[in-house]
Amino acid sequence: MKIMTKPEYERWTASTRDERMKWWREAKFGMFVHYGLYAMIGRNEWAQVDENIPPEEYAKLADDFPYKKGMAEEWVKLAKASGMKYIVLTTRHHDGFSLWDSKVNPFNSVNYGPKVDIVKEFTDACRKHGMRIGLYNSLMDWHNPDAFDCMSEKAAYDRFIEYTYELNRELMTNYGKIDILWYDGSNPLCSAAGWDSLRRNQMIRKLQPEIIINNRSCLDEDYGTPEAHITPMERDWEACMTFNGISWGYVNSEYAASYSYTPSRILTMLNTCVECGGNLLLNIGPKPDGSIPEEVVEPLTKVGAWLSENGESVYSLPRVEGRIGGNGVTYETQNGNNIYLWNRIWCGEPEIGVGGYVVPPEKITLLATGEELEFEALEHRLIIKNLPKDCPDKHAGVAVFKLEFKDKPQYIYASRYPQLHGGEKIL
Ligand code: GLC
Repeated sequence: MKIMTKPEYERWTASTRDERMKWWREAKFGMFVHYGLYAMIGRNEWAQVDENIPPEEYAKLADDFPYKKGMAEEWVKLAKASGMKYIVLTTRHHDGFSLWDSKVNPFNSVNYGPKVDIVKEFTDACRKHGMRIGLYNSLMDWHNPDAFDCMSEKAAYDRFIEYTYELNRELMTNYGKIDILWYDGSNPLCSAAGWDSLRRNQMIRKLQPEIIINNRSCLDEDYGTPEAHITPMERDWEACMTFNGISWGYVNSEYAASYSYTPSRILTMLNTCVECGGNLLLNIGPKPDGSIPEEVVEPLTKVGAWLSENGESVYSLPRVEGRIGGNGVTYETQNGNNIYLWNRIWCGEPEIGVGGYVVPPEKITLLATGEELEFEALEHRLIIKNLPKDCPDKHAGVAVFKLEFKDKPQYIYASRYPQLHGGEKIL
């Protein structure tokens, strides 16, 4: 296979990106699943290194890895019920344990523990439930001595690079169409040249012509991956967040529950992503046997119920350009002439004010029910009237007002106080 140079490859990936990314840009919300031997320790997926557990001792966990057949389908069903459109599974985290029948890595879930090809179960379940498939694969490997010796020995380096190439080739060959390859952990080689990423990624794209690749193989590829924070980027981006702000891998459900995100907190994160042109990849860390931790089920299914009524304010929306009017308790998304105001705290008043539109909308409705709401348009100020005392959204306490304008809405920031806000007057 002829390998393109970096500039050639980047030109080619840029010219084909829009087509490849279409579904992903519409999807907005995905599930990250961190599952592996570290679930048995229950103190973060970095336990091996953080607690300095010798590799031989850590590897013994594999003998008793208690994955229960069928659990992968449970993850997929939960993602579906949560309104998520894709799932990314850690097929092999930094500990080097493969969740598939690897021929190059005998340290895997078919040779040890459950003797199950979990990646096969997972990809089958995704297809069964119409879920897009993402495979996470670490570059770094704490189990393979070559991953350390590669820094000082040429033979170890060559072996390790071929090993990395083959692991990815297996994943891209044996499980049908894969939608996303989610790389992670570029230590210790830390550069595209060091990891030979150009050659490997071109092989991957040849095997999976529509695949989307993230930016963690030291090439920019298709999208950026802000981690544990939601920081918009100019390019396509996806924020990955844990469910408790603490660990990607499983931690005891009873103790983790109080740190878990509530439905409204999840919607706040999702709103920022949609408004700023990104996706949200929200993580769950299944228990040692693969079952779903209790604390994630209720918040996620409530978000799913909310999305089934309010999805129009999320899926397929473009990044918001410029500012949008609202008030101190709303967040906004936009689709052309329609503005969606996500009212995140219901203040219990019969009226709420919304500032800043130069021309009032033609209609305001409650998105979930389509109920038309009465409103009054004062100068650059809308008063929505006759609101009930209790928030009409029972899933997350986030009611969405849909404002439909005749033309593209124009926004003016505090028209009465231009001196306070730099005088952004439109009229
Ligand atoms: C970090 C961590 C890893 C986690 C990942 C998710 O790179 O090393 O444990 O899987 O972030 O983005």
